[in-house]
Amino acid sequence: MRPDELIGRMLREEDTVILFDRRNDVEQQARLIGYEALDCAITSSPIGNANVTVALLRPMSENAQRCATTATSLGSRSGRPSFVKLLDRFYIPKAGDPVISALFFQLIAERYEELAAIDVNRQTAEILLRAALKESPSCDGPRKVLDFGCGTGCAVGALMALGHDGRNVELIGTDLCESMLSIAKGRGEAVVPLTEWRAIPGGDFVAAISCFVLHYGVPADDLACIAQQLKPGGIFSANLFKGDEAKLAQLTSTLSMADLDLIWNEQLITTPDTYNRHLLFKKRNGREVS
Ligand SMILES: C[S@@+](CC[C@H](N)C(=O)[O-])C[C@H]1O[C@@H](n2cnc3c(N)ncnc32)[C@H](O)[C@@H]1O
Repeated sequence: MRPDELIGRMLREEDTVILFDRRNDVEQQARLIGYEALDCAITSSPIGNANVTVALLRPMSENAQRCATTATSLGSRSGRPSFVKLLDRFYIPKAGDPVISALFFQLIAERYEELAAIDVNRQTAEILLRAALKESPSCDGPRKVLDFGCGTGCAVGALMALGHDGRNVELIGTDLCESMLSIAKGRGEAVVPLTEWRAIPGGDFVAAISCFVLHYGVPADDLACIAQQLKPGGIFSANLFKGDEAKLAQLTSTLSMADLDLIWNEQLITTPDTYNRHLLFKKRNGREVS
């Protein structure tokens, strides 16, 4: 079966889930998280010229789980599962991997809004934008705000809910996935492909937001590019979803090296039961010493 057919079957069969991985030992990876593989396809990611395994899984019976646990404890310790479950029914590597994210979103772009709790995304985008606009410097003309990982453009609705009509605040979205980008464009967001975004000159934006993106794994070079494109005193307002303190420390250190200091760190009320930190980073003015 093709990967899109596997996803179609997952949507029809209630207790199934999908696993994305670069490794091809899918049966073993599935067992480690309590599932057995029903079918799988190996396909090429739209970026990185790399193959990804897409597997359809169903929960193992209790008996099979007991055998698998015994086999794992007898076997090597290197076989630890390291996946995070997103959009309720998709497992992707916890470390984040743009090669996998690009394929994942290409496959689900048309169904993204029915799979995601899109109201939560819109409300979160509103919180991120409100803080970004409040804390960032004013300027002559419209204030440019980068929407990094804009997806299908839910920040457009969030901006309107905050009372902006696009004349005083200009939202510019970019995304790893071209299919998501074209949906955002259809919603009225100004968009640029990631490769073009990387070439935008420094100091162009008063603020940047990134809503439910960082946990997919954003390379350090792109984080540095976000920082470089901010004006001095500019704000990066983002959420770190399903993360942990180690991931937060790594992110903070990467951004600090790019002149962004953490000035706010608070649990988001939109998902009170899940680790989801609202983080505000401020760009140094150049005169400050870190
Ligand atoms: C869960 S969606 C969120 C979309 C939108 N911000 C929202 O809140 O609805 C994550 C988006 O981030 C994009 N993405 C993931 N990793 C990325 C990366 N490294 N660079 C740029 N975009 C990325 C995906 O393609 C996807 O559109």
